[in-house]
Amino acid sequence: MKLIVLNDVALEKGSAKKGTADTGGAEARVAATPDTVAGYVKAGHSVTVVKGAGAKADFADPLYKDAGADIAATNATAVKSADLVLSVTGGTEKLVATMKNGAGITGILSPTDNPKYAAACAKAGVTAFALDYIPRISRAQAMDVLSSQSNLSGYRSVVEAGGIYGRAFPMMMTAAGTIAPAKIFIMGVGVAGLQAIATARRLGAVTTATDVRPATKEQVASLGAKFIAVENEEFKAAETAGGYAKQMSAEYQALQAELTATHIAKQDIVITTALIPGRKAPVLVTKSMLDTMRPGSVLIDLAVERGGNIEGAKPGEIVTTANGVHIVGHLNWPSRMAADASNMFARNIKNFLPLVTAEDGAYAPDWEDEIIQGCALTRDGEVVHERLK
Ligand code: NAI
Repeated sequence: MKLIVLNDVALEKGSAKKGTADTGGAEARVAATPDTVAGYVKAGHSVTVVKGAGAKADFADPLYKDAGADIAATNATAVKSADLVLSVTGGTEKLVATMKNGAGITGILSPTDNPKYAAACAKAGVTAFALDYIPRISRAQAMDVLSSQSNLSGYRSVVEAGGIYGRAFPMMMTAAGTIAPAKIFIMGVGVAGLQAIATARRLGAVTTATDVRPATKEQVASLGAKFIAVENEEFKAAETAGGYAKQMSAEYQALQAELTATHIAKQDIVITTALIPGRKAPVLVTKSMLDTMRPGSVLIDLAVERGGNIEGAKPGEIVTTANGVHIVGHLNWPSRMAADASNMFARNIKNFLPLVTAEDGAYAPDWEDEIIQGCALTRDGEVVHERLK
């Protein structure tokens, strides 16, 4: 089949979809690396990479050429002939409108944020595969972009907090005196939170963490951190069958806020990652809690793109409060480490490709497969996904 690797970096500003990974600025990732391209070429596919697609992720055009790819001048010229477009963000409505009828496109499509995008794909007869909708079953773990990218966000959040924090993380006993270890609190222990805990521990911080799902208690302990939560009856039932958090009651939220308030006053770094599928992120840190923290404390809100866990966090900005507390609202964390994020992303796509490839190498989605059924937004000119109907 003919594969096109989109240049996500070059997508027109303003036409890029709101609420997706490239909100507020630079997308630096690429959906294929020279390594995965070499694999595709070896398997008999033809690969065209749009000029500069990997430049921000440290993969220059010549590396793709050496891997056997052609280089196209622009996204617009390249996508027209594609059987399947590999992208990070899914490109734009304008771009998919120019693709050939029956072709496919894959990326993080954030479908519920962008219903118009799926409609544009349907209109063009293009099948849109939302990698962010791939069911989280064991067989699909190697294709799970949410996990591969969140893991890196969790790591990076701690490293960046360290860059802003004016003190050290580990305890140091020196001739000039002793430095106390930093206290780091991770709120929300999904994929990003777990990696944040592991990173904070490696850097020598005294680490605590909280979540509303009981399963996380043991995971936190296994990483050597202390678990803190309101563990009442509601907590015991807070996990959905899919492994996600439920929206907690007002009573639970009040108890949680009380516990957070006493704990947070003693913390130096707070990293929040709490999300509830299909809803606005819960507010876990209020302005009055921020006022109790000491000057120089750093808070990182990884949920800022979904409304934020911290009151006063601003998307794309670092806000410093009157009492000297820094609240970091960076967007698109995986793009801040574009080389590794692209490596992981490209491998996720490589593992997905067999599901849309016939034995003879032609583009042919396997519509019997539950992974394809779970992530295809459109088929034969119709929007078919349940969550979009
Ligand atoms: P997420 O990004 O949806 O949410 C992050 C965390 O925030 C979750 O742990 C959630 O419980 C927590 N949270 C929500 N509301 C909260 C509140 N009010 N206070 C504190 N914490 C709150 O989660 P993510 O990272 O997508 O993981 C969700 C689940 O999926 C986990 O159980 C994870 O282990 C599972 N998973 C399964 C995979 C598989 O292939 N089987 C792959 C990846 C994740």
